Amino acid sequence: MCPDVTRGPRRRTIEARLEEFKSLASAINLEVIDDHIFNVREVKPATFIGGGQVEQLCQQVEDDEITLVLIDCQLTPIQQRNLETRLGAKVLDRTALILEIFGDRAATREGVLQVELAHLNYQRGRLVRSWTHLERQRGGMGFVGGPGETQIESDRRLLQERVNLLNKRLAKVQKTRFEQRKSRQSIPFPIIALAGYTNAGKSTLFNVLTDSEINAEDQLFATLDTTVRRATLPHKREVVFSDTVGFIADLPTDLVAAFRGTLEEVTEAHVVLHVRDVANDDYVAQAQDVNDVLADLDVSPETVPFIEVWNKIDALTADELELRRRHRNPNLTVVEISAQTGEGIDDLLAAIEEELSKSGRFQVVMLPHKHAGIAHWLYENGEVLSAAADEEHDATRYEVRILKNKMSPFLEKFDKFVVEGQQ
Ligand code: GTP
Repeated sequence: MCPDVTRGPRRRTIEARLEEFKSLASAINLEVIDDHIFNVREVKPATFIGGGQVEQLCQQVEDDEITLVLIDCQLTPIQQRNLETRLGAKVLDRTALILEIFGDRAATREGVLQVELAHLNYQRGRLVRSWTHLERQRGGMGFVGGPGETQIESDRRLLQERVNLLNKRLAKVQKTRFEQRKSRQSIPFPIIALAGYTNAGKSTLFNVLTDSEINAEDQLFATLDTTVRRATLPHKREVVFSDTVGFIADLPTDLVAAFRGTLEEVTEAHVVLHVRDVANDDYVAQAQDVNDVLADLDVSPETVPFIEVWNKIDALTADELELRRRHRNPNLTVVEISAQTGEGIDDLLAAIEEELSKSGRFQVVMLPHKHAGIAHWLYENGEVLSAAADEEHDATRYEVRILKNKMSPFLEKFDKFVVEGQQ
């Protein structure tokens, strides 16, 4: 059910919201037997929707023997409880549904811990339900299929203990991830990060970009949440592609915070690919949502080489594509592709190569052996193209490419050793 709250700014149509909400439900294999848009002129503190609307739902729940009602809004604990009592069915709001999905999908240790923590935080105010999930080592499915509405004051203590334990475990896992990230910074290849709205086609594109056609090496750098794989671009430049978690509108605040760590991988990228499903009617609002989150992380076309990848063009007619082109931001680098058919992939690879060479400044550094201790900086922050001992000068000659945003720290350290440098 999708309440149409007729106040405040809105980016997407209510129909598009409903469609997305339904696909969220199918993401955890729920069978949607009916959907409604309810016009909510004034949010009721007790039930969110109006009395007549509750009656209508009650009738349908009874007639169709519905066990679960999904409402696309954020309910207060009281509203949720009241609705459940009135309807005689479980009620999940958008946050709860997204938590279920993330719980279902979380694959890494950190992800599982983060989702469970977000779940528990969400439930703090909702202590009138089953706590079977407290026994589990995973995040999701805490509501759907729970045995009933019993319990619990002692659970408050149980909950707090669990939260403390999770926080402790999470801190440990995050420390490990931090170490791993540090060691990954020493990878001497540029990192290309794929970001985008959920279902935009990031993983499909990631697989295309890193498959054998472009001579990928199936070498996974150990990370917890982000998939990272090495590949060679057509002109032999080696890069690392990283596939990040998908974005979704109105991500619960707890989850945004929890997955910030994962998203932060994007901030280390040398090129960001914003993958967009341009065949989706909602593609403009989706892009705004993604850009907002990225801007929060200080990632934008102004701060990092940025390519908009218009995916799924195979699902558009020529006219539809043309219409979209007319609204294109002329200041952005846009590449149109179909990750499914392979159309445009060569153009995308060429665009990535161009962005990399545009943003890198070629430098030759003659580093005396007695200063060899600072050479690691070049590997960690630049792209070392060659390193050769020059015994005559008692030094090592490095040819490196330094990204624009690393030029100041580079010059601070190496200025007096630069023998040739692009400004
Ligand atoms: P999340 O994991 O939710 O973030 O999704 P994602 O962005 O990784 O998308 P994914 O690669 O899983 O693709 C989502 C769906 O879109 C899948 O059913 C793909 O088969 C489909 N898809 C991906 N690329 C294309 C494309 O170029 N054309 C068409 N028609 N479908 C595509």
